[in-house]
Amino acid sequence: MIDEGLFQALRREVLATWPTGQEVSDEAFEYYQRKGDSGVFHQRLQEAKAAGRTLLQPRGGVPLVHLQIELLRHLEQVGTADLLPLTVDSYTRQNRYEEAQRHLERSQQEGVALLNGFPVVNHGVRNSRAVLEAVAAPVQIRHGSPDARLLAEISFAAGYTSFEGGGITYNLPYSARVPLERSVRDWQYVDRLSGYYTERGVVINRESYGALTGIMVPPAIAVAISVFEALLAAEQGVKSITVGYGQNGHIIQDVAAVEVLGTLTQQYLQRFGFHDVDVTTCFHEWMGPFPMTEGRAFGLIGLGALTAALARATKVITKTPHEAYGVPTKEANAQGLLCSRLMVDTMAHQVPLDRAQVAEEARWIAREATAIVEKALELGEGRFDASVVRAFEAGVMDLPFCPSIYAQNKVMPIRDATGAVRYLEHGHLPFDKETLDRNQELIHQRMGAVDTDPLEQIEKDINFFLEAEGFSAVSGGS
Ligand code: 5AD
Repeated sequence: MIDEGLFQALRREVLATWPTGQEVSDEAFEYYQRKGDSGVFHQRLQEAKAAGRTLLQPRGGVPLVHLQIELLRHLEQVGTADLLPLTVDSYTRQNRYEEAQRHLERSQQEGVALLNGFPVVNHGVRNSRAVLEAVAAPVQIRHGSPDARLLAEISFAAGYTSFEGGGITYNLPYSARVPLERSVRDWQYVDRLSGYYTERGVVINRESYGALTGIMVPPAIAVAISVFEALLAAEQGVKSITVGYGQNGHIIQDVAAVEVLGTLTQQYLQRFGFHDVDVTTCFHEWMGPFPMTEGRAFGLIGLGALTAALARATKVITKTPHEAYGVPTKEANAQGLLCSRLMVDTMAHQVPLDRAQVAEEARWIAREATAIVEKALELGEGRFDASVVRAFEAGVMDLPFCPSIYAQNKVMPIRDATGAVRYLEHGHLPFDKETLDRNQELIHQRMGAVDTDPLEQIEKDINFFLEAEGFSAVSGGS
């Protein structure tokens, strides 16, 4: 755990980097006390987990306070969202507060959205709290920042009790040149701040961005990374952790992945003595290239929500029919929620799933993920932060299609004949012979049957759900 004296000194430094930092004070604890449990994110997750329900949460952020309120009310009242988002704009994600300020002011003057999200830091504690106060559902801060220290300070002081991101998952998929060592350290601050609030009675839920690069991330990689972000968070006193996974499009594999994600995270937390941490799971509807036609987009959204419910994920992050085009209107966003709602509430329990197949797939995912985690722990010599940094250096942890120079980028995923994600190249992932043999056999069943360039196959696999591609689940079919 970060030393208390050092942490308080760091806080003073961080809070001085933008004027609204001065709005952060212990008044927040009085605010939370007045509010009680209502609107606490963790509470809502625990209720859903206990009831075996899958909650719906959209994305959504616009620059102005009154429009953000209008958006969230629409998502809650028309879209029936259980949990709400505050998606933060890209300037804020990169700590470019001056540019965020300019665009915010111009948005205010011209009445148009010149930012792709809500600039929490620029709005400050009071204005950010006004958004939260205008809705009943709990609201989570979602962004993509390698350094989210000031953002977390303002958010927690404003009353937001859930914060997405982590030192790995909000760096590698988003930034080309931010050293992992630095982002992991800056996220230890965010986790410590979460722990600091938690110790004072305000449980802050922390969520790992498990969808990562969003395209064919092999489940074991997502699981191993989530395990480390959970350990790093727990080490700083976080008691409510959500681990995530992005839909790959193969129902059996996706369901197995979510199951392993929850159980393995819990097991590793136990092993290191973190016995009182609550783990919940998040399923992201397809993060890859999205169909442009509405019918197809809704089909895919429905498939995602159905898979989330079958996997008993605690929550599902929904997509919208505008996904292929950019930031959705509030109306389109609500439509994505309603499509997901139907699947989650009425359909999922009628769908039979071959549980033996799920268990078999889960066994292999757990075996692969465990191999990665164990090797990383060995490299870290007892430190979680060093484990992560050294494992990525060595390629023991790796991420396909990763823009960062701090991942080796040696893993190349490919689909097998059924559409499940396997490894064309496994790079330096520390897998045993049986794991590699099984993988070889599965991809051979597909590749053996067709005489096509693997790179062409991979491109098709990425565009799995697009209009022209339509994956055929027959061996070798395309
Ligand atoms: N509002 C709604 N969705 C957003 N996304 C990014 N910014 C916003 C926003 N302001 C979504 C993208 C994509 C995912 C990464 O986040 O559409 O689905």
